[in-house]
Amino acid sequence: MFAVHLLAFHFTKLKEDQIKKVDRYLYHMRLSDDVLLDVMARFQAEMVKGLGKDTNPTATVKMLPTFVRSLPDGSEKGDFLAVDLGGSQFRAHQVKVSDDGKQSSQLESRACRFFCGRGGGLFDYVADCLLDFMETKNLKHKKLPLGFTFSFPCKQTKLEEVRFLLAWTKHFKVRGAQDTDVVSSLRKALQKHKDIDLDVLALVNDTVGTMMTCGYDDQRCEVGLIIGTGTNACYMEEMRHIDLVEGDEGRMCINTEWGAFGDDGALDDLRTEFDRELDLGSLNPGKQLFEKMISSLYLGELVRLILLKMTKEGLLFNGKASTALLTKGKIEMKHVSAMEKYKEGLSNTKEILTELNLFPSEEDCIAVQHVCTIVSFRSANLCAAALAAILTRLRENKKLLRMRTTVGIDGGLYKTHPQYAKRLHKVVRRLVPNCDVRFLLSVSGSGKGAAMVTAVAYRLAAQRKQIDAALAPFLLSLETLREVKNKMRTELEYGLKRETQASATVKMLPTYVCGTPDGTEKGKFLALDLGGTNFRVLLVKIRSGRRRSVQMYNKIFAIPLEIMQGTGEELFDHIVQCIADFLEYMGIKGARLPLGFTFSFPCRQASIDKGTLVGWTKGFKATDCEGEDVVDMLREAIRRRNEFDLDIVAVVNDTVGTMMTCGYEDPNCEIGLIAGTGSNVCYMEDMKNIEIVEGNEGKMCINTEWGGFGDNGCIDNIRTKYDKEVDEGSLNPGKQRYEKMTSGMYLGEIVRQILIDLTKQGLLFRGQISESLRKRGIFETKFLSQIESDRLALLQVRRILQQLGLDSTCEDSIIVKEVCGAVSRRAAQLCGAGLAAIVEKKREDRGVDHLQITVGVDGTLYKLHPHFSRVLRETVKELAPQCDVTFMLSEDGSGKGAALITAVAKRLHNVGQK
Ligand code: BG6
Ligand code: BG6
Ligand code: GLC
Ligand code: GLC
Repeated sequence: MFAVHLLAFHFTKLKEDQIKKVDRYLYHMRLSDDVLLDVMARFQAEMVKGLGKDTNPTATVKMLPTFVRSLPDGSEKGDFLAVDLGGSQFRAHQVKVSDDGKQSSQLESRACRFFCGRGGGLFDYVADCLLDFMETKNLKHKKLPLGFTFSFPCKQTKLEEVRFLLAWTKHFKVRGAQDTDVVSSLRKALQKHKDIDLDVLALVNDTVGTMMTCGYDDQRCEVGLIIGTGTNACYMEEMRHIDLVEGDEGRMCINTEWGAFGDDGALDDLRTEFDRELDLGSLNPGKQLFEKMISSLYLGELVRLILLKMTKEGLLFNGKASTALLTKGKIEMKHVSAMEKYKEGLSNTKEILTELNLFPSEEDCIAVQHVCTIVSFRSANLCAAALAAILTRLRENKKLLRMRTTVGIDGGLYKTHPQYAKRLHKVVRRLVPNCDVRFLLSVSGSGKGAAMVTAVAYRLAAQRKQIDAALAPFLLSLETLREVKNKMRTELEYGLKRETQASATVKMLPTYVCGTPDGTEKGKFLALDLGGTNFRVLLVKIRSGRRRSVQMYNKIFAIPLEIMQGTGEELFDHIVQCIADFLEYMGIKGARLPLGFTFSFPCRQASIDKGTLVGWTKGFKATDCEGEDVVDMLREAIRRRNEFDLDIVAVVNDTVGTMMTCGYEDPNCEIGLIAGTGSNVCYMEDMKNIEIVEGNEGKMCINTEWGGFGDNGCIDNIRTKYDKEVDEGSLNPGKQRYEKMTSGMYLGEIVRQILIDLTKQGLLFRGQISESLRKRGIFETKFLSQIESDRLALLQVRRILQQLGLDSTCEDSIIVKEVCGAVSRRAAQLCGAGLAAIVEKKREDRGVDHLQITVGVDGTLYKLHPHFSRVLRETVKELAPQCDVTFMLSEDGSGKGAALITAVAKRLHNVGQK
C-alpha cells in the first residue's frame, strides 16, 4: 500500500517537474487573458481597416464581401448539387431541400489529392469527380443548380459573377490559377462533358457554407467558423459599414480571411522562433501567419520543431533525435490529438514517439504531451480572441448591451481534438462575458451550406421578379408624366368654361380673392383652420406700414373621429366650443373680432363670405353639410351657443391661405400648393378666362380642387389595383382619384395594400398577414417619412415597423422601404406633372417665353417627407423647362393668410360701406 502511494507521489512529482520544464521552455506560447484581450483589440482594428475603402489595400485581413445577404428562412426548396473543395476532404453532395422546411441530403465524400499541377488540371479533376458522382447517383439527365464551396480567399463582384482567387492557402498551390475567375474555370471544365448540363450558381467560402448550414437549423446563427486544415471566420456585417459594396441597407456576410492576420508583422511579438521556422518551410512563406499558429495543417509541424529543438538542447530523448524527428511533416495533427487524449494520451504518446524511432522515457512522454497541450491551447486561445472580436463587433453593430447569438463551426481540429472545443468555448465566454454564445457544430459540412446559398440566390431572384412586377406600375416614364400634365391642362380649361364647368372633375372654384396682400393690411383677427392634420384657432395681429409685422397666437384642438363623421350640427357645435375655449384662454371673450375661416374643402362661393360645401373630402363626412353654406352653419352654431358673437368676414381654402401667407413675403407668389393630408392647388387666374364670373378686369384666385382630377376615368391607365382598393375602402369611393394617388392620407394606405399583396404572395412577413396590417390607416405620413429617411439604419426601420405591430426581418424592412419609396416617388411625380400644367398655363397666358414664379407650399407630406419635395421640384423642372419656379415653404400655416384676406375684405367692406 505504502509502495503504491510512494509510486504515485513519485509520478506526480515527475509530472510536475516535466510540466514546469516545458512551461518554462515555452513560456512565450502561454497567453494570459490580458494578452488575449490585446489580440482581440488588434483584430478589431484590423477588421475596421479591412472594411474601409482607403485602408483595405494595406489591410492584411481582407474582409471580403460575399454577396450573401440573407440567411436561410426555411422557404428554400429544390434539388441542388454542391462540390466542396479546400479542406481535408473533397466532396460532392446532392442536397434536397423540401417544402416543409426539412432538409435532407445525400452525401458522397472523396479524398482530396495534393495539387501542384496546372490550374486546368484541378478543375478538370473536380468536373470528373462530379460526373462520377452524378453517374452513381443516377443524376446525369438532370439539370441541377450547382453551388461551389471553394475554401480559399476569393474576391467576388456578385454571388454568381467573377470571383478572383487572391491566393492559394493551406496545402494548395496550383500554377496559373491565381487572379483567374474560378467559376468560369469550373464552367469550362464542366462544358467538356457534353452529357451533363450544370450551371454554377453560387461560389461560397467554407465559412459561409458552414454559417448557412447551421443557419438553416438556428436562425440566430450569424457567424461561421472553420478550425480545420485552415482557419477562418465569416459573419454578418451591416452594409453601411462595407465601403467596398454599394448600398447601405441590410447586412452582408463578410469572409474575414483572418488566417492572414499578422502578415504585416502585427503579431510578431507573439510569434516564436518555431512559428518563424515553420513559416519558412511552408508553401506560402510570410503569408497566413495567424492561420499557421492555429490550424491543423501546421500544429503537428510546430510540435515537431519544438521537440527537435528541445532534443538538440538535451532536454528530451537524451539529446538524440531520430531521422524521423528531423523530417518535415512527420508529426501530424492526428498525432497531437492522440497524444492529448485524456486517459490513453500517455500511452499514445509513447507509441507515436516510438514509431518515430525515438526512445522516450516516461519523463519524455509527459513533456511531449505537455508540449502538445501548450501548442493546441495557444491555438484555441488565439482563435477565441479573434472570435471574441467578431462577437463584440456584432453586438456593437446591434447596439445591444447583451447579445445572444450562434456560431456555426466546422473543421477537423475542432471536431476531433479531445479538449479543443471546450477550451475555445470557455475562453470566448471569458473574453466576451456579455455575449451568450451557442456553438453549433455543422454536422454535414459546408457543401450543404453552398446549396443553401444557391437556394437563397434562387429564392431571391424569384422574389425580386415578383416584387419588381408589383412595383412596376408605379414607375412612370417621362412620356406618361407628360401625358398626365397635358390631361390636367385639358381638365383645368374644362373647369373654367361655362358649358363644361358643371360636369368638370377639376372644379376650378372662384374664390373672390382678387389680389395678393400689399402690406397695407392691419388689425386684430380671429382665424379658424379646419381640414388638415390639426384644427386650430388663431388670434392674428397685423401691423402695416414701416413696422409691418404679423403676430400670431394659436391653439390646436382635436376633432374626434365621431365628430368628423357625425352630424353637421355636432361638428359646428364642437368648432364653436373650441372657439369659446380659445377666447377664454386668450382672455378676449367679449371682443367681437372679424374672423377668417380656413375651410380646407371644396366650396362654391358667390362672394368672399359665402361658401357652399360641394362635397366632403379626406377624412370628413359629417351629415347635412353638403350643399349648405358653411358660413351660415358656423353662424348658427354661434347663435345656438349664445355666448359671444363674431363677424365672419371670409371663408378661405387652405391653398388660398397658403398663397396669401407666402404672398405677404413675396409678391411673385401666385400659386398655392398643399401636399398634406389632401392635395390641392390654387392660382391667380385672369378674370377674362373665368367664364362663370362676371367681369374681365384683373385677376381672381381659383381653387382648382385638382384632387378630383381623374374622377372621369381619364387617368385610369395609370391607376393600379392597389389604388382601386384604396379608393373602394375610402369614405368617398370613386371621388378624388388624383388626390388618392398623391396625398398623405392615402399613400400609407397604398403601401399597406401592396404589403398585403406581397405578404399573400409569401414575399414578406413570412406570409403572415398580421392584425396590424389589416388595420386601415396604420401608415401615417410621419411613419412613411421616417421609414424613407436615409439617415435611419435598417434596424431603426425595423423598430418603426415593430411599433406598428409588424414583426419584420431585415429583408422585410428593405422591401417595405422600397415599397414606400415607389409609392411616394410616384406621388411626387404626379403632383409635379399637375403643377407643371399650371405653371405652363400661366406662362402661355402671359405670353412669355420664360416665366418666373413663386409657389407657396404647405402640408405635412411636403414638409416631413425626405424626398417628396425634391422629386416634385425635379419633375416640374423637367416638364416645364421654360418656367423658373421658386418653392416657398409656408412657415405659419394658412391661418395667417386667412387673416390677411379677412383684413383686405374688411377694408374693402368698410370702404364699400362708407
Ligand atoms: C468541412 C467543409 O466540413 O470543413 C470544408 O465542408 C472545410 O469545406 C472543412 O474546408 C474544414 O475542415 P478540414 O478539417 O477538413 O479542413
Ligand atoms: C396647414 C394649413 O399649414 O397645412 C392647413 O394651415 C392645411 O389648413 C395644412 O390643411 C395642410 O397640411 P396637412 O398635412 O396638415 O393636411
Ligand atoms: C484558409 C482559406 C480560407 C478558408 C480557411 C478554412 O484560411 O484561405 O478561405 O476559409 O482556410 O478552410
Ligand atoms: C382636399 C380638399 C381641398 C384642400 C386639400 C388640401 O383636396 O378638397 O379643398 O385644399 O384637401 O387640404
